[in-house]
Amino acid sequence: MEATDIVEVIGDFVQLKKRGANYVGLSPFANERTPSFTVSPVKGIFKDFSTGKGGSAVTFLMELEKFTYPEALRWLAKKYSIEIEETVESPEHREADNHRESLMIVTGYAAKFFHESLLDTEEGKNIGLSYFKERGFSKDTITKFELGYSPDQWEAFTGQAIKDGYQEQFIVESGLSVKRDNGSLYDRYRGRVMFPIHSFSGRVIAFGGRTLKNDKNVPKYVNSPESEIYHKSSVLYGLYFAKKAIREEDNCYLVEGYADVISVHQAGIENVVASSGTSLTVEQIRLMGRLTKNITILYDGDAAGIKASLRGLDLILEEGLNVKVVLFPDGHDPDSYVRKVGTSAFKKYIEDTKKDFILYKTDLLLKDAGNDPIKKAEVIREIVESVAKIPDSIKASVFIQECSYILKIDERALLSELNKIRASKAKKDSQQSSSSYSNHSKPAEPPVEINWDEPAEKQEKDEANQEKEVIRLLLMYGNRMIDWDGIANTYIGPFMIAELSDVEFDHPTSKVFIEIYQKEVENGVLPDEQLFIHYPDKDIVDLTVNLISTKYTLSENWYEMHRILVNDEQVNMKATILGAIFHLKQNKVGKILQNLRKELQKTDVEADQEILLSQYIHMKKVEKTISDYLGSVILK
Ligand code: CTP
Ligand code: MN
Repeated sequence: MEATDIVEVIGDFVQLKKRGANYVGLSPFANERTPSFTVSPVKGIFKDFSTGKGGSAVTFLMELEKFTYPEALRWLAKKYSIEIEETVESPEHREADNHRESLMIVTGYAAKFFHESLLDTEEGKNIGLSYFKERGFSKDTITKFELGYSPDQWEAFTGQAIKDGYQEQFIVESGLSVKRDNGSLYDRYRGRVMFPIHSFSGRVIAFGGRTLKNDKNVPKYVNSPESEIYHKSSVLYGLYFAKKAIREEDNCYLVEGYADVISVHQAGIENVVASSGTSLTVEQIRLMGRLTKNITILYDGDAAGIKASLRGLDLILEEGLNVKVVLFPDGHDPDSYVRKVGTSAFKKYIEDTKKDFILYKTDLLLKDAGNDPIKKAEVIREIVESVAKIPDSIKASVFIQECSYILKIDERALLSELNKIRASKAKKDSQQSSSSYSNHSKPAEPPVEINWDEPAEKQEKDEANQEKEVIRLLLMYGNRMIDWDGIANTYIGPFMIAELSDVEFDHPTSKVFIEIYQKEVENGVLPDEQLFIHYPDKDIVDLTVNLISTKYTLSENWYEMHRILVNDEQVNMKATILGAIFHLKQNKVGKILQNLRKELQKTDVEADQEILLSQYIHMKKVEKTISDYLGSVILK
């Protein structure tokens, strides 16, 4: 962290211009013409005013490159030539690393071999290259995707690889060559055009080889077998080339085949990946989910394939992603359709016909069921089951509304079915988590209600803001001293923490923040903003940076603009701090009172009523004390 110069790191990705004490540039997260992206070398933070993102150099790398925290640290360490020792590296560890590396090296070598034989040999040019040209792939596309050709001979690749010193073990394990019973090797992909499959960071890890024969007995594609570097279920074809565009467009197109990815990409729609013929896995979904929450599935119109994929789609819903579906007309797949109609008509077709997955599924199943009432009941259950997978209950209730319309079923009936499924799921989840201590199971969703009895939203929002205000003061003044009621040299941070000891923070990030602060104070440390700016938890960093950076504090003349405000705050430091703490307490007490009132209404048992009532009266007194106190503090 100390070696990192945030201007230097961000400068690798964004053109920055010095302006006053800060640097500004165009936001890498949004399309903008006037720079709103600000870097403060003094604080070691950036703030993007057009998207609201902000944080340290580490957060920046995590946002832009989608690195995990350790990946970002590794990147920085490399940049500043700092060696990081990860864990004590055991010999087995090192060997496994070397093993994977050897497989990648031979796979990379093979990609180069196939690419060169496509472009530089007579056979490759006549057969492979002319095939790709016929399919409309341009020279640039062929280069970008490193397409290749494997000569139609038994040992063209194997022989060359051995001659160039590659070990048999790795050639076989990576699936490039196959071992005969007698121990000799032969090429796996003879006479096929080659589609290299890249890892997330762009290294070739596997291949798909397509035959050029029209023979039903010859498999159309031969793919690399599973290996230590290729786990089919967690790879998406084209992701490496698509990741930037997926982030920019905040949408990912999902197609079925290699050819679809390449054609659509070549047409200028670069946010496209393929599941490569297999049904979608959770790992693949999470991979997309790291980049966007919006998936648009582009299918060819063949019904059998669509039904098979319906299950995979429920998986996407469970991960909280939004899924839309587009079908192409009569036997077209994305590849053939984009070539037929061109980019803009293709895009328009997608916009015009894309349909939310659940509505699409409803339509499809309903058509199947016809007028059979039993089948129809089955459809309803299945749809509601899909909806129940959506983690966001507001979104779920919107779908229920729409489905009630399509299915011509009372919304209340659907809702009660939905709540039943949720309740049984919640029960299962809680049983699971108590028996296995698993913390992976998602928290049970509250049932979706038809009427919200009162808009508690404003109160909640006030409360969240009051919690944040307290945190802001901790960040700005926590490690300063103040004379407090005649007691000189009191640190503000520990004083506030002590005052807050009876307050339960509600907002999850705020709660964590306070816990961290408290722990530090207990250990005799006064945490400053730098601790929180560089904290491994991204939510903490976000919260911190949002609170300490405003356009004014980061702007060149922040001192002028802020002096007044800061002065005001500081002149009346005591009022500022106690005001923030006691406003928060007031709100919390208000909520407790509200809950007590509700419980009082619910119960008929006299003894309970009595207890509740005495609690109520007590809290009322507390409320009065707080408001009296606030009055005196604020008025002073
Ligand atoms: N696939 C496979 N093995 C097969 C057939 C298909 O692995 N025998 C996978 C490939 O990843 C292929 C995808 O399923 O890309 C979709 O199949 P298909 O639509 O038949 O292939 P396309 O890529 O569209 O190939 P083309 O347009 O050249 O027919
Ligand atoms: Mn095709």
